[in-house]
Amino acid sequence: MTTRLSSISNSTAQPIRIPVNLGARSYDIILQNGLLDRLGQQLSALRLGNRAVIITNSIVKRLYARRAVQSLKAHGFAVTVLVVPDGEQAKSMRWLNLILDALVESRCERGTPLIALGGGVVGDIAGFAASVYLRGIHFIQVPTTLVAQVDASIGGKTGINHRLGKNLIGTFYQPRMVLIDPVALMTLPDREYGAGLAEVIKYGVIEDAGFFEFLEAHMPRVLKREPASLGLILRTSCAIKAATVSADEREGDRRRILNFGHTLGHALETVTGYRRYQHGEAVAIGMVAAARLASHLGVADNSVPERIKDLVARAALPSEMPRYPAASLISAMRQDKKVQEQQIHFVLPTAIGKVTIAPVQDSDLREFLKHSLPGRRGRHASHRSARGA
Ligand code: NAD
Ligand code: GLY
Repeated sequence: MTTRLSSISNSTAQPIRIPVNLGARSYDIILQNGLLDRLGQQLSALRLGNRAVIITNSIVKRLYARRAVQSLKAHGFAVTVLVVPDGEQAKSMRWLNLILDALVESRCERGTPLIALGGGVVGDIAGFAASVYLRGIHFIQVPTTLVAQVDASIGGKTGINHRLGKNLIGTFYQPRMVLIDPVALMTLPDREYGAGLAEVIKYGVIEDAGFFEFLEAHMPRVLKREPASLGLILRTSCAIKAATVSADEREGDRRRILNFGHTLGHALETVTGYRRYQHGEAVAIGMVAAARLASHLGVADNSVPERIKDLVARAALPSEMPRYPAASLISAMRQDKKVQEQQIHFVLPTAIGKVTIAPVQDSDLREFLKHSLPGRRGRHASHRSARGA
């Protein structure tokens, strides 16, 4: 596939519908500039009664809640707005309980839609609350960060953190609709936007060499959030995520490719106490490391990690591993919920646009990590074949 900018100019001025095909749980992702002002219209089309609850956080409330509420009211909805604090702390049992208390006390019914207005944090906790309140109420995603627009709002993973690990408590619960307004990204701080670009680059590596080439050719425009490039990256990323989830809703097989860069990325977040890196920054380092591991194991040639590293760097994302003992990183990788039969699995790119999933022995990983630490790269003695690739 070749992705060309000229073929999608002014792409999100008109609504774009991307289906997520899951039988009775199917839904559309709708992308359109200004969609935030059309929430009422979109919700009316689902015929869900005349009440709605918005869950948002303090920052997004200030920026966008008034417009969302106005649009819903204009279409006859009575609206309740619940506000959680900004940041990962909202994905907790405490805030889940407070949301459930508010839903019970205000007598929300099964037919009342719950709308997540915000980034991935708001989407994850709101989706979890929607999945357990009255055994499940209608859930609508209105993502306002790049991470949430291209990833977190699509596919039905919901949840909160446990003190022993991130996202350990949750459900698979699909939204009824994902409404994406690209214009909302204009207020996003650069660092948050960059974190989302790591997931965008991921889609190029795992699925679409043409998209990767587009990003290589147009990164300055993407960084400027120039509307046509933004439209293209949103549309392509959402289409890849939707197709992957449609093929494998519960992450039994194909959906695992979405974890490219995340095995080491999550471990880095854990060992650094979630303070040093944004999730996307850790994923960026994890993608470069996984590509180097693929080359080290002989399943990819050297150009693959080189191109990924260059693109990551041009997106102003970190690409190099910080100095951490290999044993701590391996131990953190072992905590990941994606470990299978005690073995750490990696999504390894075999070429740009193509990946394989393989278990990697601890001994291979230790040796690789030892040589990947700062100042020691380039000392891999030999390339070996991947075991079990
Ligand atoms: P986030 O929700 O914390 O948002 C990042 C920051 O941007 C916050 O400070 C937020 O208040 C602010 N913000 C949101 N929209 C804004 C806007 N339009 N303008 C200005 N500021 C805005 O973080 P995130 O990166 O969106 O999501 C990360 C979370 O998502 C993590 O908890 C992660 O586990 C989860 N996640 C879930 C999935 C999934 O499949 N469910 C996938 C990826 C990530
Ligand atoms: N964010 C990875 C997934 O949805 O599977």
